[in-house]
Amino acid sequence: MRAEEGAKEPLWWQQGVIYQIYPRSFRDSNGDGIGDLPGILERLDYLAQMVTVDAIWLSPIFPSPMVDFGYDVSDYTDIDPVFGTLHDFDVLLTGVHDRGLRLIIDFVPNHTSDQHPWFKESRSSRNSSKRDWYIWRDPKPDGTPPNNWLSIFGGDAWEWDEATGQYYLHTFVKEQPDLNWRNPEVKSAMFDVLRFWLDRGVDGFRIDVAHFIMKDPALRDNPPNPALGAREIPAHAWESQQHIHNFGHPDVHGVYREVRRLLDEYGNERPRVSIGEIHEFNWPIWVSYYGKQLDELHMPFNFALLNVVWSAAAVRAIVEAVEDVVRIGAWPNYVLGNHDTHRLASRVGAAQARVALMLVLTLRGTPTMYYGEELGMKDVIIPPELVQDPFEKNVPGLGLGRDPERTPMQWSASANAGFSATDVAPWLPIADDFKTINVESELEDPSSTLDLVRRLLELRRSTLALHSGTYQSIEVEEPDCYVYRREADGRRFVVALNFSAEPKTVSLPESGRGTVRVSTHLDSDGEVDLRRLGLRPNEGCVVEVQDSDSRE
Ligand code: NOJ
Ligand code: CA
Repeated sequence: MRAEEGAKEPLWWQQGVIYQIYPRSFRDSNGDGIGDLPGILERLDYLAQMVTVDAIWLSPIFPSPMVDFGYDVSDYTDIDPVFGTLHDFDVLLTGVHDRGLRLIIDFVPNHTSDQHPWFKESRSSRNSSKRDWYIWRDPKPDGTPPNNWLSIFGGDAWEWDEATGQYYLHTFVKEQPDLNWRNPEVKSAMFDVLRFWLDRGVDGFRIDVAHFIMKDPALRDNPPNPALGAREIPAHAWESQQHIHNFGHPDVHGVYREVRRLLDEYGNERPRVSIGEIHEFNWPIWVSYYGKQLDELHMPFNFALLNVVWSAAAVRAIVEAVEDVVRIGAWPNYVLGNHDTHRLASRVGAAQARVALMLVLTLRGTPTMYYGEELGMKDVIIPPELVQDPFEKNVPGLGLGRDPERTPMQWSASANAGFSATDVAPWLPIADDFKTINVESELEDPSSTLDLVRRLLELRRSTLALHSGTYQSIEVEEPDCYVYRREADGRRFVVALNFSAEPKTVSLPESGRGTVRVSTHLDSDGEVDLRRLGLRPNEGCVVEVQDSDSRE
């Protein structure tokens, strides 16, 4: 791609950085130990003026029995009292917009709570007008479930309903029955939900397990997973199958084309965005969710960096694979952490976490950051008696539980890390390191991860080459280093990342000198020789090439 192409006027969700808030854990304004909307409102200035992100995505805030902490929705058009009221939501949305930020909310289309009135009605009788809103089936003649599908959270995906003598499908816990999106009434009711929030002014949706809503209409059995040896018993039974029938049916694309048309209608006012949670690691399939005509999701989340074995070669391979498949004109994106994945600093270590942040904040594509990532927050080991996550309760001891990455935001060195106004124990324990890893301390410390993120975001925002310019890998001899070029409007930057704990030197094809704009290490030299660029252990640096005509 030529530089001018990369320099087209980018939309807010392309140019900006998204920040995910897990509302239970961000800021508790009323001292009940659980984060809430007024708490988020209190901290908007932190996001707008200190971290300087562009958009916020809120994990679910709707009424819910909280079996899966909000991903079991019992009313799509209200706010759970633990988080506040619709009025609190409106005030928050205004606060977000007043600061020039955007608000993305979670849309959970695949399943409701079993306490949703739709499901209560559906399970009331085989003749219920909403029976077909969910996926009910007779047992096999021997009484066992209709097929071999499994729940991601352990056990069968089918729950027996004694009263009506049928099974219903639940891809997650049994309290999360799957909706039947092949029923036009379901689709229409769910589109009304989207309209409700668009009319209220939200700027977009993060769509929960977006590809799960269309399954094989014949509900055929999944085949065994050939990647497992015959005698191997998978630790998590879910891994024992090839999941080819229980999600990702091609009919899903038609639904997202319609969702896109709806968003485009509202887009006349201002552009709205759809970001799908799509755990798909086959790149051609992954890119298909943008739509052949780029008329489906604006972005399927790219989760490849969450699972990668952290090395220069593996990370480079991911970026190049993404750059390759998005050549159809799709806009890339990167994620380092979320509420379902162990924290970045625990996965790759504190020093490499800074390198990783430099990576995603200087790549071509939208970065989504997870709350606390900007501080270097780590996983917290949760004692068994404090476990909250149903995944850990159902499939214990395998490290699948998600509580460790959901602990309260660390605001200060005071009681409860400043998360909660009182001494009521927060819903999950506070990390031991909160006296040093917290917003207040890190704002004062130029060597903190927060300071690094602030410097990177400032540079990114003010530099067309970094937020929208072209991307090109640079070959270097050193296998532990990954180096790339970003360029637009006659300005050229080189990002050089050392993935090892040893000092390294890379020689770049650009001749002459460069100026270090940001380094992970504070005391970096201003001017560097690009033919012999020295990187300290775990150092990453963004260098502006001084004479951009000098590339060989
Ligand atoms: C994906 C969400 O991110 C996760 O937290 C949730 O448990 C499942 N979908 C079910 O909604
Ligand atoms: Ca609260």
